[in-house]
Amino acid sequence: MPKFGKREIKNLKKVIHSGNFADHAGGFMDDLRCDFADALDAKHAICGATAMLLMHAIPPAIGAGAGDEIICDSVVQFHGIACLHNNVVPVWADVRPDNFLLDADKVEEKITERTKAIWVTHLWGFPAEVDKLREIADKHGIYLLEDCAHALTTKYKGRYLGTWGHVGTFSFNMGKQLPTGEGGMAITNDDALATELNKRIIFGESPEVLSSNYRMTEFQAAVAVAQLTRIPGYMRKYRKGKAYLDEVVAGCEWLDTRAQAEDCTIAPYHWSCLFHGERAGIEQGVFKAALMQAAGGRFNTGFTQRPAYIYSLFRDPASYGLKGWPFGYEGEMQTHEGLCPVAEDVIPRIVCTNNMVKPSECKRKAKLLRKAIALAESGTVEPLEYSDIERAVLAVVEEGGQMEPSEVIAALDERGLAHLDEHSAFAIMEGLRDRYPYKLSHAGPRKFQYHELA
Ligand SMILES: Cc1ncc(COP(=O)(O)O)c(C=O)c1O
Repeated sequence: MPKFGKREIKNLKKVIHSGNFADHAGGFMDDLRCDFADALDAKHAICGATAMLLMHAIPPAIGAGAGDEIICDSVVQFHGIACLHNNVVPVWADVRPDNFLLDADKVEEKITERTKAIWVTHLWGFPAEVDKLREIADKHGIYLLEDCAHALTTKYKGRYLGTWGHVGTFSFNMGKQLPTGEGGMAITNDDALATELNKRIIFGESPEVLSSNYRMTEFQAAVAVAQLTRIPGYMRKYRKGKAYLDEVVAGCEWLDTRAQAEDCTIAPYHWSCLFHGERAGIEQGVFKAALMQAAGGRFNTGFTQRPAYIYSLFRDPASYGLKGWPFGYEGEMQTHEGLCPVAEDVIPRIVCTNNMVKPSECKRKAKLLRKAIALAESGTVEPLEYSDIERAVLAVVEEGGQMEPSEVIAALDERGLAHLDEHSAFAIMEGLRDRYPYKLSHAGPRKFQYHELA
């Protein structure tokens, strides 16, 4: 839904005519730093090439390094990756069953003498319990870091997300609330931390610390300055759309609206609810088939199906690119199944769809969701069956463990079962990832793993 028009074009023309496409005094990046910090009541705003790169720079900026630990919520992987890039061990903590955000009551038990920070993700624009988390961080003298990639201009108990922690990061990639192609922003009220972060994302002529070039360009900043003025309008529309979808779920006893903390705003990103068909004797496979029948591919069920720590990235030292886990780590990396039982139970229950569309599109999706609910309750829908080729692909991956489409093609050829091209093999595997019962999940962007999930 983002709109790019006269404001963006005017700014971009200005950049071209200036002939200076990098950060410079009086350029758009100066404006962006000021406007962004003002918009979120923060003292410092630090521009970066992407949110992920800013996140890479955070552990060293707070003094976390080899063998230290950072507590991460367990649904998504971004903070965990930023930890590994710095030889810091992500310690996964469980989430709440009603909103799949970090459960503040599960954090303290994970703190050890090696813990340097708590890293919380405000997934899909819902605020986690940052007041409690900040209290825990302060009590133990550690940092609170906020991944606000989906949570632009979201308030929790009167304060913007990103300012509850010592630092908050925002993403400007094309799927985000403020899209500029690529780009990111970190905000902090801590002068020393701002200096430490800046040192690590801009190389300079004589670098003082191990740093890199994670700079934003003036093109990104020019678009961001214009987009920032559009954010209140986007949010109004996304919230209107969200209300249509919430209303449908409010009338269904076996779908739960995602719980929202009191005294907060939401920055809609993906809309979601939670499947609890067991309350009404409705199988998930039936609901999934009903959703497909009523709404085509508009809704996803099960999200990634599994918590981030189960990705091979965090389990297999080979993917980490070293012979072992972080140098000097004296603990034991915990990534076993059952580590975060709530996350493992709740992720497959997630039903979600993009909320960052026109309200009329959300209204349409709400109508289709209502239809799917009625179909599932009618008792006339059967769970989707696997086709022959889907069964063959599943069998090959079950045997192979983790496979890319090209490996599946070779295995099918070898067995004389079917010949697929790369595109079809990938599409079938992607389709299977979204089928119930879940048997395939991602093990990488183009790699899939087999598993049985109840
Ligand atoms: C929760 C979360 N954190 C961090 C990032 C990284 O953002 P970027 O693409 O700007 O590096 C993303 C991007 O999808 C994200 O969804």
